[in-house]
Amino acid sequence: MRVKITGASAFVNRMFEAAGPFQYVREFAKNSIEAGATRVEFGIEWQAVESIGVYRRTVVDNGAGMSAKEMLDFFSTLGASGKIVAGVHDNYGVGAKIAALPWNPNGVVVVSRQNGLSSMIWIALNPNGDYELVEFERPEGYRVVVPPAEYDGVDWASVLPRWVGDHGTAVVLLGDNANPNTALGHPRAGGTDLRGISTYLNTRFWDIPIDVRVAELRSADPAKWPRGPGETDDARRINLRRIKGAAAFVGPLTGCPSGEVLLDEGRVKAKWWLWPGRRPAVHSYAKEAGYIGVVYDGEIYQMTSSKAHYRWFGIAERDVQAALTVVLEPQKLADGWGVYPDSSRARLMFAADGRRAEEIPLANWGYEFGEKMPEAIREAVRAARGDTTQSGEIDESYRKRLQDRFAGARFSMAASVAGEGDATGVAAGPAGRGRRGAGLLTKGSDAGAKKRAAQAPQTPEVTGDGAESAKPTRKPVDIPRYRFTGISDFEQPYHIAAWAPHEADGAVVLVNAEAPVVGEMVAHWVDLYPEIYAEPVAAEVRRAIGEIAACKVAHVQRLTAMLPEEVVDREYRSEAALTTALMGLIDAEALIASRLRGKFRMRAEG
Ligand SMILES: Nc1ncnc2c1ncn2[C@@H]1O[C@H](COP(=O)(O)OP(=O)(O)OP(=O)(O)O)[C@@H](O)[C@H]1O
Ligand SMILES: [Mg+2]
Repeated sequence: MRVKITGASAFVNRMFEAAGPFQYVREFAKNSIEAGATRVEFGIEWQAVESIGVYRRTVVDNGAGMSAKEMLDFFSTLGASGKIVAGVHDNYGVGAKIAALPWNPNGVVVVSRQNGLSSMIWIALNPNGDYELVEFERPEGYRVVVPPAEYDGVDWASVLPRWVGDHGTAVVLLGDNANPNTALGHPRAGGTDLRGISTYLNTRFWDIPIDVRVAELRSADPAKWPRGPGETDDARRINLRRIKGAAAFVGPLTGCPSGEVLLDEGRVKAKWWLWPGRRPAVHSYAKEAGYIGVVYDGEIYQMTSSKAHYRWFGIAERDVQAALTVVLEPQKLADGWGVYPDSSRARLMFAADGRRAEEIPLANWGYEFGEKMPEAIREAVRAARGDTTQSGEIDESYRKRLQDRFAGARFSMAASVAGEGDATGVAAGPAGRGRRGAGLLTKGSDAGAKKRAAQAPQTPEVTGDGAESAKPTRKPVDIPRYRFTGISDFEQPYHIAAWAPHEADGAVVLVNAEAPVVGEMVAHWVDLYPEIYAEPVAAEVRRAIGEIAACKVAHVQRLTAMLPEEVVDREYRSEAALTTALMGLIDAEALIASRLRGKFRMRAEG
């Protein structure tokens, strides 16, 4: 006999799908921490191992525990919570249930002790997809919350180990008939990595102030698993790993050079760590290389190591990306500004100026970080760049020459895309109101301008002092610099160009001299000339590609009249977009000019 739980399973499944395969690890750990536990163990339930050879994951803590009544209240209703549910920063009373039940249709057993009194409850999924409480037969009749006793071959009283004392909670995950071995995690979503739980905890939680341990199996092969808790065979016995959180791998204990930069008018704190040389191995139970992430309430959201995101932060060199970790701590939503988690607790959202549920403005924060780049990072970028630059090949006079082609003022430009190589990152002068847009992509723009840019598309006018701000001035377009680099700085080896607006030495277009398409173009032209010219011909071809890439980036600035600069950079100046733009072998203007020349007579000047 079973009791139906109120709550829609479709809703549960949708939330579950949004969260990812290890969300259950987060939810149980979070519940334990919220219950004031000083110790949490992701263990294995040994009775089923010994009786039926099934390895079930348990989560045990020595937190406050629950009374029989609380267990009924919290687990018989979806959305029931022991905490006040009031605002965006509060709990929803859905966490553990949603993260665990969809992949544990056989159920989740919770055994909890408060003031020395223990109770248990068993939630399961029925064939109709509804969640139910299992009823236990008792002398007084059927009950859903009972003192723990032996049911289905397990003495549930003993899943609470001695160390919980007179208060604590144990959760046992029963999986489904096809996958009863829940110790390995969630087979449906690939969450079965042997170190998956440890890695997840060490990447999801920024700092873990309590004693958290994970029992890891050493093999994916059940034949090599431990035969019991006292397994002595080194190849079989479990590995009990202490989890410290991500900060422990970059934080003060490591002696890694670090610092702090304030962004967005002091509302975002950016902490950074830069490994000198190669970082010590952390194997696979934490993040190996650098990353960028956003910390909220001790957890890391939107963690990324993508090259495009690093470039937002002014870091284009692969070696520096691998060595640098940047963690942003934005203000929690208050007075209409700040971050808060979405309902799946898998992402952070952003609100500002009456706008809600926006993506966090990582690009804008990155740009500001790039402008304020700490000297140690700037140094590392210079050192990493070393000799890959081939800068001898680049004659910068093209910038003036090409600028003159744009100077026909076919469009008026709000912003200059080309940094003037101001490596100090110090604003050249006071950033007046009228300067909005000018230098958005360059060193030394004011943070205020960037904030506005995120809110609304840029208007195309540029002014001197603000007074006549409505009148567009025809400012010549600056052509950005470009630099040759190699495959390792690109998301894909076959990408041809990338835009790095906030590199340490100013905005620059990166050209992948090792891209196959570039190689084919070089080979084509080199073949047409005697061998002695191979070098200069190759250099000429590369230069042409670099200059055209620089022009593409410059011309795309036109779109900032219609779109926020952030979107223009992310979408229209992405590696993929620039790669497409540079393929095709024929350049539009050259083709048009040669077609029209000789056919028509041009207008007379004036
Ligand atoms: N390990 C635990 N120790 C003590 N109480 C717990 C434990 N796990 C859950 N509870 C109680 O059960 C309630 C329901 O837990 P659940 O995770 O479903 O929702 P929540 O934590 O309240 O909210 P959410 O997880 O959605 O933020 C909690 O509010 C808490 O009172
Ligand atoms: Mg919870």
